[in-house]
Amino acid sequence: MSFDRMWADLAPVGRDADSGGYHRYTWAGADTDARAWFTGEAAARGLDVRTDRNGNLWAWWGAPGPGAVATGSHLDSVPDGGAFDGPLGVASALAAVDELRARGVRPARPLVLAVFVEEEGGRFGVPCLGSRLTAGEISPERARGLTDADGVTWAEAMEGAGHDPDLMGPDPDTLALLDVFVELHVEQGRALEDTVHPVGVASAIWPHGRWRMDFTGRADHAGTTRLADRNDPMLPFAHTVLAARALAEEHDARATVARSVIVPNGTNAIPSLVNAWLDARADSEDTLMAVVEGVRAQAEAAAREHGVGVAMTAESLTPLVSFTHGLRDRLAAVVGTRAPDARGPVLPTGRPPSPEGASRGGGFPPSTATGVPILPTGAGHDAGVLAAHVPTAMLYVRNPTGVSHSPQEWARPDDCHAGVLALADVLQDLLARPVGEAAS
Ligand code: GLV
Ligand code: MN
Ligand code: MN
Repeated sequence: MSFDRMWADLAPVGRDADSGGYHRYTWAGADTDARAWFTGEAAARGLDVRTDRNGNLWAWWGAPGPGAVATGSHLDSVPDGGAFDGPLGVASALAAVDELRARGVRPARPLVLAVFVEEEGGRFGVPCLGSRLTAGEISPERARGLTDADGVTWAEAMEGAGHDPDLMGPDPDTLALLDVFVELHVEQGRALEDTVHPVGVASAIWPHGRWRMDFTGRADHAGTTRLADRNDPMLPFAHTVLAARALAEEHDARATVARSVIVPNGTNAIPSLVNAWLDARADSEDTLMAVVEGVRAQAEAAAREHGVGVAMTAESLTPLVSFTHGLRDRLAAVVGTRAPDARGPVLPTGRPPSPEGASRGGGFPPSTATGVPILPTGAGHDAGVLAAHVPTAMLYVRNPTGVSHSPQEWARPDDCHAGVLALADVLQDLLARPVGEAAS
């Protein structure tokens, strides 16, 4: 299968030799190389590759036009990320084109492969930035001014990569060409591992967001400043990290503080400033906001206690995404026409969730008529942004450990092949249906 060669070619791009993790950041070295890899693969297939006003890539099989069936994902990574989150959906899309051609499929309407820019927010902080811009869910002014860790703005970086940031903005014309979008993604939980199904279908994406917290104190000497005289922002910060964890437990939600900047970051100097980011997710918007407001209250109380200032600002917020049921069920029916694998136990319907699956945001996979699991996720995706504008669905490829956003992220080669075949089946089915039917 062409997937294997592509996967081997893409594997070294941005991989850290020590950790094995990936560092692909928008508008810079490895991400640019990965985009060039995609452009080369698409061009070698005779696809017409275009970069849109926001930097997303679109590779068209058939003349660009309305009624298009779209698939794709992203190539950027989180810091030291896994190989599969994003690239699996891109390489599978290219391999699905090969599979459809080998089957002799001649689409009566366009098929387009998309690569969305800055999905992880790994460089500029706002996730799904390319799809949000295209969907008009973030203003181009705000996006242009976003900065990376070195203070480089999105506008400067985009211009440095040869694109005009002044052209950025909502792109209803491109969205209007899409009849349906399907994103294939590595599963980021291990619900499928407890089943005989290498491929599942998405039901929903939990509401989620990111909040920046600025704790402002006063720098001073670590040895000479009496404890009572300090305004140490590290203390309310530490309290807030633990409070977030406790609130997530209380609400059966997720709250994570995984990134911080300490100024000036000297061993023997009380910091003047701590910037930290809260990532919070829950199964409903009310629960999400209860967690976030709880964190805010705790941060403010702890800051007061220590004579420190605190400000908490939302950087991104994605509402609950519930994928269109008709489309979701159609995908499950198509995927279910292939025999499940012979590996692993077949679970009786109604088995309680595995603790791992539940703790990774997977939960119990409800069975469809074909047995193909339909899964909610706590992970964000460009599909979740597009879903408000275009009938959208997702396929998940089984991940044996459920680990993601880590060098340990993995999917078996056989399961990746099953993903390509499932995607090809789904695209073939959609291409053969009347335009507009996916919305029904
Ligand atoms: C993206 O993968 C996210 O869920 O943060
Ligand atoms: Mn991710
Ligand atoms: Mn992803």
